[in-house]
Amino acid sequence: MCGIFGYCSYLRPKDRKEVCDILCNGLARQEYRGYDSAGIGIDGDSPGEIFYYKEVGKVAGLREKIAAAKVDTSKVFNSQVSIAHTRWATHGPPSVVNCHPLRSDPSSDFLVVHNGIVTNAAALRLVLQNRGFKFESETDTEAVAILTKYVYDSQPDKRITFTELVKAVLKELEGSFAFVFKSKHYPDEVVTARRGSPLLIGVKTDKKLKVDFVDVEFAGQEADQKIVETLSPTTSGGLLAPPIVNPKIMRTQSRAFMSEDGLPQPIEFFVASDAAAIVEHTKRVLYLEDDDIAHIAEGQLHIHRLRRGEDGQQTPSTRSLETLEIEIAEIMKGKFNHFMQKEIYEQPESVVNTMRGRVNFDTNKITLGGLRAYLPIIRRGRRIVFSACGTSYHSCIATRAIFEELTEIPVSVELASDFLDRKTPIFRDDVCVFVSQSGETADTILAMRYCLERGALCVGVVNTVGSTISRDSHCGVHINAGPEVGVASTKAYTSQYIALLMMALQLSEDRISLTERRNQIISGLHALPGQIRSVLAGDTALKEMAEGVLAKSTSLLLMGRGYQYATCLEGALKIKEISYMHSEGILAGELKHGPLALIDENMPVIIVMTRDSLYPKVQSAFSQITARKAQPIVICNEGDEGISKDVQTIRVPQTVDCLQGLVNVIPLQLLSYHLAINKGFDVDFPRNLAKSVTTE
Ligand code: F6R
Repeated sequence: MCGIFGYCSYLRPKDRKEVCDILCNGLARQEYRGYDSAGIGIDGDSPGEIFYYKEVGKVAGLREKIAAAKVDTSKVFNSQVSIAHTRWATHGPPSVVNCHPLRSDPSSDFLVVHNGIVTNAAALRLVLQNRGFKFESETDTEAVAILTKYVYDSQPDKRITFTELVKAVLKELEGSFAFVFKSKHYPDEVVTARRGSPLLIGVKTDKKLKVDFVDVEFAGQEADQKIVETLSPTTSGGLLAPPIVNPKIMRTQSRAFMSEDGLPQPIEFFVASDAAAIVEHTKRVLYLEDDDIAHIAEGQLHIHRLRRGEDGQQTPSTRSLETLEIEIAEIMKGKFNHFMQKEIYEQPESVVNTMRGRVNFDTNKITLGGLRAYLPIIRRGRRIVFSACGTSYHSCIATRAIFEELTEIPVSVELASDFLDRKTPIFRDDVCVFVSQSGETADTILAMRYCLERGALCVGVVNTVGSTISRDSHCGVHINAGPEVGVASTKAYTSQYIALLMMALQLSEDRISLTERRNQIISGLHALPGQIRSVLAGDTALKEMAEGVLAKSTSLLLMGRGYQYATCLEGALKIKEISYMHSEGILAGELKHGPLALIDENMPVIIVMTRDSLYPKVQSAFSQITARKAQPIVICNEGDEGISKDVQTIRVPQTVDCLQGLVNVIPLQLLSYHLAINKGFDVDFPRNLAKSVTTE
């Protein structure tokens, strides 16, 4: 949900790079986070001159606009400190004026790019308007840009540092954010800050760095004085005089990133919402914590804290450089037409990566290093609560039964938003598991914070290393599926499913009575990559199916029960989100309680009827719908002779009951892909959706 990119280079003039290209590439890599408009802000040739280019639509459109401007940016622009943004609209529709960077005033004293939502923006806007400030956009971000100018203009002698200025502004804000600020008044500097939205900084230099960590500078503004007096949307709200900041306390002597000889050159910094935008430049990154404010100037990076005192003591006093483990090839499409297609096809390997080093197929032992120290606490837990959204939630539904069977601990599965709405009671002896591909989904993070506050053990199951859930949970499992770029989640689902299953297997390792069952599942896991491969080999038939009767349908029901209920929910979600076709996953046991009324000869139905203990019951659902003239497509096992030759089938290899969903979901992913392609939709960028939903 919105991608931020910032580039600060302190290279020698002869080594300087084409800034616009770097910015557009940084945005393109994060386009999955939001793609309704994009913009960049860079300095002009003469001091104080700022240019920005903005365009509605994808980054490609922005590139064309910049190309049409025929600006030789390598020569004309001295600026090596520039900011960029790709947007997913929350406040105000996609339009050039609502596109970021947002400016504080027509002469662009301050430019801001933002990911998140400032929840008190309406109140801020009102008090600023009452003071005579003019707004040109409908965004929450513009209030932040204007407030920054207001504080700056109120400082005698304008001696406030950029960091202290931003700190004063951030103290007024409620909600979640990641920001990058740029200003004419602070040429060649940027300030970036986060609370609740991800932000990392890549550091690139050929020289050896003096240190590989940065001290956090806790010194700062003495008073926690607020600027905005009343935030009620009435005329009583007003602006107080902004704090006058004492310049003496602004700089502390601390270790910061700079090259060994202490000279500011040559070094480059890349600020981004996602590592995918940085990895092509450098693998050395630093993740900002909530309430960190990073200041980049004169080839140095300094980290400050928004709050002082106790907060300072609780937060680690350094931020270390970490090495990214993703490769550039992983975030490229390669021979595939779309990321989604590539990610579907990657599953024979991604499931292996999830199990690598964790499942020992010789000894049938599971070792999840990130959980080892916590296993006794989890086993003693009185219940396990899974919380997640969307596809990640479906992976929890898919594994709940096997989790309960193996661990004998009751498991509840919660949609994170609903869990919070209900303010569900949570206790110290609860084990709360948060499943998220991105590790940045706002609802899931808030659910985790709620459980942390109540003293429960919080376990993260995430794909993105360094994400908020991965860092703020007590312990967890990285699913290691590799970067997932397609907005519709595919390989993350199968890897989350396996990660949860491995957790249940490890938790049950001391139960002798379950040895046979565990061994059966582990050998099923061994065969899984080959079985997924064989389903992928049937892609052409699925393409034809999507071009046949389904192509003309406006609605589709997917039916199954037991382990296959989750498969139906996930298949229906894939179909609706990329082919915009109504589709619904139905528990076959519920058929007679309502959905049967929908069935007639015109309603397409997919019924999942692979062999397990519930097979006879699904057969009965099949009979009920065919008796009402439905002509279902049946997902069944290879060699199942029980299904009439007249019925259209999708045949898949048979595996252990609790793993069958991993095989059955693959044809549904492929079918959804072909349905969308057939309708001419952009599968990687479905309308109205973004990959990482970092706001509630
Ligand atoms: C569907 C999809 C979404 C996500 C959901 C949670 O294809 O991708 O439903 O699963 O937004 O996202 P994460 O897993 O990042 O928390």
